[in-house]
Amino acid sequence: MRRGSIASLIGIGVVAGGIAAAAAVFLPWLPTPASREAGRIDFVFWFVVVICIVIFAAVVAMLLYAVINFRAQPDDDSDGPPIHGHTGLEITWTLIPTVLVTAIGIVSAIVLSRDDALGKNVLHVDVTAQQFAWSFSYPDAKGLTSSTLRLPEGRSVLLRFTSKDVIHSFWVPEFGQKQDTVPGLHPTLHITPDRVGKFTVICTELCGLGHAVMRAQAVVMAPAAFNDWLHGQSKAVASPNASAAGAAIYSNNGCGACHSLKAAGTSATVGPDLDRLPQYAQQASRPLDDFVRQSIVDPNAYIEPKYPKNVMPQTFGKVLSKQQLDALVQYLINSSKKG
Ligand code: CUA
Repeated sequence: MRRGSIASLIGIGVVAGGIAAAAAVFLPWLPTPASREAGRIDFVFWFVVVICIVIFAAVVAMLLYAVINFRAQPDDDSDGPPIHGHTGLEITWTLIPTVLVTAIGIVSAIVLSRDDALGKNVLHVDVTAQQFAWSFSYPDAKGLTSSTLRLPEGRSVLLRFTSKDVIHSFWVPEFGQKQDTVPGLHPTLHITPDRVGKFTVICTELCGLGHAVMRAQAVVMAPAAFNDWLHGQSKAVASPNASAAGAAIYSNNGCGACHSLKAAGTSATVGPDLDRLPQYAQQASRPLDDFVRQSIVDPNAYIEPKYPKNVMPQTFGKVLSKQQLDALVQYLINSSKKG
């Protein structure tokens, strides 16, 4: 091969590789990881990307070089010279991909086994998916169920999934992994959050009409703040003081995201104003206790005029235990009578 050919091949390759590298590095393809597992997965991703860019540059260089230099003259319809194979070339183009694919396989296997290795003092969280809500319960703090996934920074977390109806899929982009929740199975997912912040839990498996709104919040907290929250909440939930338990259930289940309630300091207007529950019960001609309970468990049974049907999740009857439901009903009744 002539020296000039090698120089132009390298030149084209460097330009093509540079463009591909710039597209890889300067466009925000991936979110900043918030778990150790995501960091390792990103490493595999970049390992593969670098290999791909080198191959892309080599292929583009040869392709462009051939197009420019071996272009047939106009009206030249003759066949090229016959070629009978080239053993050296064939060994090369078999060996290089074999080495690269094997390397990717080995790096991936190491990352998979490291990501699955639980740390010490594992925090267990039971994740329940149902049309169209997530709920998170903490077996270590009996009876504590939350609609927000709160996790401590730097501690091994094992999520165990249950689906109550169809297939959903758990995904927090910053945690870097997805896990399908399949009815009848209880798959697990290991996460070690390593960045304090708020992230979005997304359902990433088409699961029905409400699929697009099946989202929750994941909050990674400093370990001390998390422990305070866990102990405070589990005490409040188990408290014989219905008002403290009710307030905790109200805040954990995100009621305040849609409803106003002075006692809880929430002022959203998506759903009816809960300070007016006694009036609503009167309009529905129902005893207050029954009315409030039914509106939580089966929200479509009575829809306050001007509010749409099917907006309130019909899942709280399943998410909340009987005790939690009692406490919440009592809390709402007491608060609304004051309001
Ligand atoms: Cu649940 Cu999509």
